[in-house]
Amino acid sequence: MQGDPLRTGRLGSGRPDPVAEFLSSMAADRWIAEADVLVDIAHLLMLERREILDSASARTLMEALLTLRSEGLPEEIFDDCYEDVHAGIEAYLIGRAGAEIGGRLHIGRSRNDEVATCIRMRLRHELLDRMAAILELRRVLIERAGEATETIMPGFTHLQHAQPTTLAHHLLAYEEAFGRDFERFGECFARVNRSPLGAAAFASTGYPIDRDFTAAALGFDGLAVNTMDAVAARDFALEAMNACSLLMSTVSRICEELVVWSSAFVRFVELDDAYCSTSSIMPQKKNPDTAEIMRAKAATVTGACMAAYTCMKGLPMSYNRDLQELTPHLGRAVGETGAALELLAGMIASARFDAERMREESAKGYTTATEVADMMVREFDLAFRTAHAIVGRAVRKGTLDLETLEEAAGEMASLSLKERGLTEDRIKSALDPEYGVSVRTAPGGPAPAATKKSIAERSRRLDADEVWVAEASERIGRALSQLVADAEEFIK
Ligand code: ARG
Repeated sequence: MQGDPLRTGRLGSGRPDPVAEFLSSMAADRWIAEADVLVDIAHLLMLERREILDSASARTLMEALLTLRSEGLPEEIFDDCYEDVHAGIEAYLIGRAGAEIGGRLHIGRSRNDEVATCIRMRLRHELLDRMAAILELRRVLIERAGEATETIMPGFTHLQHAQPTTLAHHLLAYEEAFGRDFERFGECFARVNRSPLGAAAFASTGYPIDRDFTAAALGFDGLAVNTMDAVAARDFALEAMNACSLLMSTVSRICEELVVWSSAFVRFVELDDAYCSTSSIMPQKKNPDTAEIMRAKAATVTGACMAAYTCMKGLPMSYNRDLQELTPHLGRAVGETGAALELLAGMIASARFDAERMREESAKGYTTATEVADMMVREFDLAFRTAHAIVGRAVRKGTLDLETLEEAAGEMASLSLKERGLTEDRIKSALDPEYGVSVRTAPGGPAPAATKKSIAERSRRLDADEVWVAEASERIGRALSQLVADAEEFIK
């Protein structure tokens, strides 16, 4: 096996294993290895086209790279005697083609622009994948909302029964939040998909390289222009991790609700057995472990994000080796987010909501008290604050019937509701949760008419978002297939 090709000149070659291991990013570099081969192929084509490298050497190198591409990278490349996968691949090329040819691929570039390019390529792929998973989750939420526009349930503030709403309204709240996550991933994608290649160490190179060529060949939408910024910046990675962290905090909230809702106190939902575990001692137990682990994964993702932020702050221009330590945090954040998203849609799709239990709770805790106050304002010309005080006093007395409200009105405002025409029947209808929901027709509100409209609008947006992801993936896929086809054509 080849030794590390980077350590033959300036440095003495011997060093203790623990030092080599400590410095190596090899374990984490598997995440970018496939991208690295494509980066090498694009760089090599460019060198040959610009006549920076002779065609015969380029052909030999290209044959080796295409073999790596088609057969995968052999384990020897990942030996942690190399600092990283870039050195591992270079050693492999030198082993295969000899130092005279193998040592020519690195003309006009540095591992600094190379690694930044690889990370961006891997990350954009991860982002598109997460976006597709968010779409799937949103589709499930919209579908389940469609079945539940008339499913009355209590809505909560402070986890206290607050006002009646519907399950559809509740699910659509999450769908809208995940819609914003989708937007954030898309905006982040635009900043990620810029090519740093050609920045070399930071000051670019004196060779007549063609940065636009390699950028287009690798499916980038343009350049990370300033060559110092190109190698030094990782804010694109922080932004992606931030987007993951925000998404996971919403995932964690819905999981928290699934945990609470599936408890015997609440019984609003039963999760499918597939997502649950049991106890090793208590044979009756069905625990919502998947939701619990997801809740905890939000902490893992936010922790990785914080580690990356802390790693970046205070780094002077341009490249610093600290940046190597950031990449695994990025991989962890996007990876854990992906794993959670993959399961969440299925867990919600297969959940059995208990409409009867939700209906039963929907009128508890005076959830319709606001509607009773509103009715008094609308029909008996009271100031809202007066009506609020009267109803509040009646609740304190223990019930919302005509006699109690009349008493409260006397105490709070020295007036008679009966004289103004309030009847027991009118109170009953205002106390009905279905009625309270049905009048809340404002855009985005819980009335069935409003949620049906939301469902239609959100479905249209979902379709458009789906097209966006498909087109972005296709653009990149097309560029990379073309790159490999051009490389194959070149060695013919
Ligand atoms: N493994 C390194 C990283 O992940 C690649 C760049 C190394 N550059 C250097 N100047 N030592 O950042």
